[in-house]
Amino acid sequence: MAALDWFTRLDGREHADDDALAEAAHEALTRYRLVHFVGIEGRDEAGLRRMYEAVFERLGVVLDVREDFRQGGVRTGERWIEINYDHDIPDLAAYRHSKNAQPWHTDSAYVSNPPDVMGMYCLRQAEEGGATNFVAVEDVLGMLQSEEPELAAILEGETFHFSKVHEHRRQPVFVRRPDGRLTMNYNYYTLDASESEAHKAANQAFFDWMQRRLRDAPACLSVCMQPGEGVLWWDDYVIHGRDAFVATKTNDRFLWKTGIQVAGVSAPAR
Ligand SMILES: [Fe+2]
Repeated sequence: MAALDWFTRLDGREHADDDALAEAAHEALTRYRLVHFVGIEGRDEAGLRRMYEAVFERLGVVLDVREDFRQGGVRTGERWIEINYDHDIPDLAAYRHSKNAQPWHTDSAYVSNPPDVMGMYCLRQAEEGGATNFVAVEDVLGMLQSEEPELAAILEGETFHFSKVHEHRRQPVFVRRPDGRLTMNYNYYTLDASESEAHKAANQAFFDWMQRRLRDAPACLSVCMQPGEGVLWWDDYVIHGRDAFVATKTNDRFLWKTGIQVAGVSAPAR
């Protein structure tokens, strides 16, 4: 179960141009939960943006996912959202701008019309730390069922309400689809304030368990993107978090991220 058979790497040097790389990414997403782009060479900032836009647009509709932290997380109508260390924002105020480790979550837990796939690429990596970590949702539930079966039953059987600003999503944390595939929807920090005490307790217990158990588990894939590298992942099929990193100046670490509603492709079963 813990085999990391759900991810692959695509090497930019092995593809003739952006269209060929986009085609390879489209094909890879039918077979893998996560695609890691490596060997992306000889491109400046504008060139990287062009390449990743070409690759992501081949997959479907690229959404306008940017939220403005300084305006309370409101959507700005822009496609790309910056994940950058910002010296002027207190570390505890927003993971997106901090150097702290970021706990496990799915990106669209509170989004009513969510993207299927998230894409992210790296302009600058921290001098130390900053890896993004991924675990396939079957491994999360499998471990939880063997260690905390009562909690697993609550997360599978009861509807949880996640929200942020004007966005809402209500479903169990783990959902088994009619075709047998398992999905997950979870962000500790966006559990709606109106939720029951029992659900708040389950939210806390699950958060604590994941923090304790997942990072060093054999099921965890750690990807420390270097400048130019990128990732695509099926957001409901792998959860992710981030290691802490060393940074002193604003933009010492800088990633761009967006979301895609894919066409003609569905997430692979395992
Ligand atoms: Fe995230």
